[in-house]
Amino acid sequence: MNFKNTIRTTLALAALCSITVVGLVSAEDTDKALLERAKSLFKPLPDTSRVDDYPHSAARAELGKALFFETRVSTDGRMSCAACHNPTYHGADSLSLSVGLHGKKLPRNAPTVFNTSLLVAQHYGGNRMTVEEQAMKALLSPLAYGNKDYPEAEAKLKSLGYTKKFEEAFPNEKEPVTAENWAAAIGSFERTLLTPAPFDKYLKGDQRAISKEAKIGLDKFMSVGCAGCHNGTTVGGQSFQKFGLTEDYWLATGSKEQEILKGRDKGKWHDTQKPEDMFIFKVPQLRNVAMTPPYFHDGSVAKLDDAVRVMARLQLGKQLSDEDVKHIVAFLQTLSGDVPAQFAKAPALPVAPYSN
Ligand code: HEC
Ligand code: HEC
Repeated sequence: MNFKNTIRTTLALAALCSITVVGLVSAEDTDKALLERAKSLFKPLPDTSRVDDYPHSAARAELGKALFFETRVSTDGRMSCAACHNPTYHGADSLSLSVGLHGKKLPRNAPTVFNTSLLVAQHYGGNRMTVEEQAMKALLSPLAYGNKDYPEAEAKLKSLGYTKKFEEAFPNEKEPVTAENWAAAIGSFERTLLTPAPFDKYLKGDQRAISKEAKIGLDKFMSVGCAGCHNGTTVGGQSFQKFGLTEDYWLATGSKEQEILKGRDKGKWHDTQKPEDMFIFKVPQLRNVAMTPPYFHDGSVAKLDDAVRVMARLQLGKQLSDEDVKHIVAFLQTLSGDVPAQFAKAPALPVAPYSN
């Protein structure tokens, strides 16, 4: 080998090495940079969503769990929170539109009850602020429990044998069986329903917690603009946005007009009647989204990949490739946590005291 050739070989080898080294370093750098970007937009779940306004105790959460599964407070004896937010379906009911009292259809799809205590407001129109307010108003909802007033519901709770459980959960109260305490107890239970997922491990620095495909999907989710609306601890659930920014949403979802709403679902407008609230919906959280089909406020889209395509089209005016959709779905799957153990098993309910 002559001198010139040796130089050439050395140079070629050096170039090859530097490419390899650069390649290696940059893969690691890319991983690190992706994690940093993700950390600026998302946060891992906290250990608890308890708030000072609603003191928690084990007795309260246990009572809340019983009430969550209790059907006898509803006027047809069949409705309970769990009827529409069931452990079997990851805290939702798997129907397009929930079925309520006396088999009547609700105008909307039931979201999962997991992590909802962390959302900015409850319901697609945001007409309830806390999970406690939501639980209290459900008692009088003609589609859920149908009680004519709170005393009617309270009398039922007493007759079912709940007084002792309320006394234990709310000590020092003279008359603890109240609708407010029903709500506080159910809220106490709901605040335990947080579902940590592989994505949380990733956000805490474990690069191996999610797959390569999921990382590509996460990158896409941020770069394409999804994270502009779906961000924070719950990957959504923190703001309200128009559904259908580029065209009417029903052109992409196939949503039908609803008799109960006298036409299209107009979101927040139904609660405020303000023109600026027309078609404004709460951005849903995407935690557990892979486990809770069908999608959108009316369950009009059955599959997650189609829901992702609809979102890109309606909210961003973009058409994603099949590859992009596959990767984004792989990312969304990293947001699924386990059904909390305390929810998975139905509780024992009090037996109504014998009387004649
Ligand atoms: C008949 C079915 C049904 C019953 C019974 C029911 N829900 Fe729901 N739930 C729904 C539907 C449908 C929505 C969506 C309503 C909307 O957005 O306007 C919802 C919304 C919610 C939300 C808000 C979730 C979010 O992401 O905004 C919470 C929390 C909730 N329900 C908890 C409960 C609790 C607690 C009970 C019992 C006290 C209960 N639900 C009873 C069907 C039901
Ligand atoms: C401008 C805000 C905005 C952007 C950007 C956006 N979304 Fe949404 N997203 C929403 C709103 C609002 C809804 C609720 C629509 C409805 O059901 O009424 C929603 C609903 C969803 C749902 C259905 C959730 C469920 O439980 O039914 C999925 C999945 C979703 N978005 C994923 C994405 C993806 C993926 C992207 C990026 C391609 C994206 N979104 C971009 C606002 C946005």
